[in-house]
Amino acid sequence: MIFARMLLATIVALLSGSALAIHTIANGSQITVTTIITTSENISAFQCWTFSAPFLLGPAPFLALNLGDFDNLTYRVFPPHSSTGVHNAPRHQLILVQSGIVMITLPDGSDDPVYAQPGPSGLILALDVEGQGHTTSQPSDEEGLVLELPFRNGVIPPHKVINETGACRGQESFL
Ligand SMILES: *[C@@H]1O[C@H](CO)[C@@H](O)[C@H](O)[C@H]1NC(C)=O
Ligand SMILES: *[C@@H]1O[C@H](CO)[C@@H](O)[C@H](O)[C@H]1NC(C)=O
Ligand SMILES: *[C@@H]1O[C@H](CO)[C@@H](O)[C@H](O)[C@H]1NC(C)=O
Ligand SMILES: *[C@@H]1O[C@H](CO)[C@@H](O)[C@H](O)[C@H]1NC(C)=O
Repeated sequence: MIFARMLLATIVALLSGSALAIHTIANGSQITVTTIITTSENISAFQCWTFSAPFLLGPAPFLALNLGDFDNLTYRVFPPHSSTGVHNAPRHQLILVQSGIVMITLPDGSDDPVYAQPGPSGLILALDVEGQGHTTSQPSDEEGLVLELPFRNGVIPPHKVINETGACRGQESFL
């Protein structure tokens, strides 16, 4: 138990470090997003994607990147040390982590968990609407707060797959 807490504290410290990094978004910058897909074997898996649209300058001094249309917005709170069962994404949606750590686990252990937290790693595309599914948990003492935005008509924005076999580990940033 103590070991588990120390391990978690280390993970939190490591993640916080990366969240404090300074990211410079310039005209033409692209954003990466860890995506949960359903594979042809009908299991959930992580990929690393980048949206095709870049940040563009304007109106000054802003840079803007539009990701299309969404149906609605839901705040979801994960109490400390809580976990969902294995579930599918209810629809194609974008998840934005606002606080805490959201840990996403594949039930078959085919890849390491993804830890999403506020900052560049806190953007997740949940697209595994069928098949085996995934587990979402809040492993820390903090409350987790996420925003869920389902894409209108399930339309996924134009994108490129950067890593077909894994999450954006250490690549969560503006490209
Ligand atoms: C911003 O980048 C786009 C292409 O990525 C380019 O077409 C546009 O001219 C650039 N704008 C400025 C102000 O540099
Ligand atoms: C994939 O899994 C879902 C259960 O979520 C099932 O309904 C569907 O038939 C499966 N598809 C294939 C191709 O096995
Ligand atoms: C939000 O939109 C989704 C469709 O993308 C719909 O299934 C869901 O019921 C909506 N939620 C609310 C609370 O209206
Ligand atoms: C893709 O992800 C896998 C699994 O995390 C990793 O082993 C591999 O190095 C990644 N490939 C690239 C190009 O980042």
